[in-house]
Amino acid sequence: MTNKRRASVLPVAGTNPPDAAGPTDQELVEMARQARERAYVPYSRFPVGAALLGRSGRVFTGCNVENASYPLTTCAERTAVTKAVSEGERKFEAIAVVTSTGATPCGACRQILREFGGPAGDLRVIVADLDGHVRNFTIAELLPEGFTPEQLG
Ligand code: THU
Repeated sequence: MTNKRRASVLPVAGTNPPDAAGPTDQELVEMARQARERAYVPYSRFPVGAALLGRSGRVFTGCNVENASYPLTTCAERTAVTKAVSEGERKFEAIAVVTSTGATPCGACRQILREFGGPAGDLRVIVADLDGHVRNFTIAELLPEGFTPEQLG
């Protein structure tokens, strides 16, 4: 199946069936770009979009949601993780994060993602800007020697 054909059956966030073929990285970035457009950012004016691919093949999108009480802001990555876990998904393949500058996830989000990144931290983090520049990391690379569930013993 070509990328072109698959793009025409782009999965709707959180609704594609578990046995569906997963999206390509490019499709995941596109879903994050669309999620970014739904960001609620009246204070920072810095919209962030995320698309989190679960091992089941389901995709959960997220955007940042700010608040007049600034520290209560929820980052896009955390929105996506919370949506996924609350829908029963706990294992993830990859997350795409889109910003105007190609920014990497903040420290708090790295820790949140590390929780669900598998024992080896091999969750892929795909970071993209709006001009098609894409960088690939693993969560273990972004959070070296991070605190993991396994360390609780
Ligand atoms: N933000 C995210 O959504 N994810 C990150 O990893 C970095 C920061 C948001 C928080 C705030 O709404 C805006 O970007 C500026 O910090």
